[in-house]
Amino acid sequence: MENRSLVTIAQHSKEKILYMLEMAKEFEAHPNRRLLEGKVVATLFFEPSTRTRLSFETAANRLGARVIGFTDPKATSSSKGETLKDTIKMVSSYADIIVMRHYLEGAALYASESTQVPIVNAGDGANQHPSQTMLDLYSIYKTQGTLENLNIYLVGDLKYGRTVHSLLMAMRHFNPTFHFVAPEELKMPEEYKLYCRQQGIKYVEHTDFTEDTIVDADILYMTRVQRERFTDLMEYERVKNVYILKADMLGKTRPNMKILHPLPRVNEIAYDVDECPQAYYFQQAQNGLYAREAILCDVLGITLDDVKKDSERYNTSL
Ligand code: CP
Repeated sequence: MENRSLVTIAQHSKEKILYMLEMAKEFEAHPNRRLLEGKVVATLFFEPSTRTRLSFETAANRLGARVIGFTDPKATSSSKGETLKDTIKMVSSYADIIVMRHYLEGAALYASESTQVPIVNAGDGANQHPSQTMLDLYSIYKTQGTLENLNIYLVGDLKYGRTVHSLLMAMRHFNPTFHFVAPEELKMPEEYKLYCRQQGIKYVEHTDFTEDTIVDADILYMTRVQRERFTDLMEYERVKNVYILKADMLGKTRPNMKILHPLPRVNEIAYDVDECPQAYYFQQAQNGLYAREAILCDVLGITLDDVKKDSERYNTSL
């Protein structure tokens, strides 16, 4: 039987990404449906989360599914030594989809190889966050009207930030120019720069972050310095406030420029930016609901045609 897990964004072709965005658009028009009636979605969060877990759970609820899961692995038998493989096998006998966040890179792939129930990777260590990428792409598409030929500035913790790693891979289909803005300690890892070179993705590296650095940006993607991934907390203290975006840095930006951030923010976007027309990060998080409704349907084999047919019921009943 085909395993429809979403482990990495790299598994998606350009056509599949555009198809998923079209599905997200259908859900934005009508978020409340019965497409997952009778299904159970398990959310297994071995690491903290606000947006990813709650938007997946909202998506499941809005589609008529029921939700089980945990947010604190210490309250589960993994704290007694149960292996991830055994946990996944057990939950597979209860649920139709498993949404999992784990601190180990590769955990989602491992889980997907341990079960026939689709696994949705909700973040595995510093590796991948493909559902975040789907909502990022949806947000970019909504604000720019295209995914093609954009200047995308990735700012902050490019070493440990899984959202930037996933986004970079997804954008390979759309001829972007990336600007990597990071201090020496948090530079984009060599493996991702190699990926860019192999895929023909243009990139420029910066260490300065000023009003002039970002004049050509279409998308300014800010990230948090990932405290939880540092082994040396002194190093975290040295870099934690390295870049702070303030409203007075936005005077020269392109008119279409939008600021994204996967959130949570700590200090890297000053509160005065929230009132600027370029700020889009809270709408971005809201887009997560629609993107995740699309993902939950897709991993169960519910197609865009099924969703469109379902939409007709709502459109004709208006
Ligand atoms: N963007 C994101 O993954 O947020 P959470 O950690 O709150 O889920």
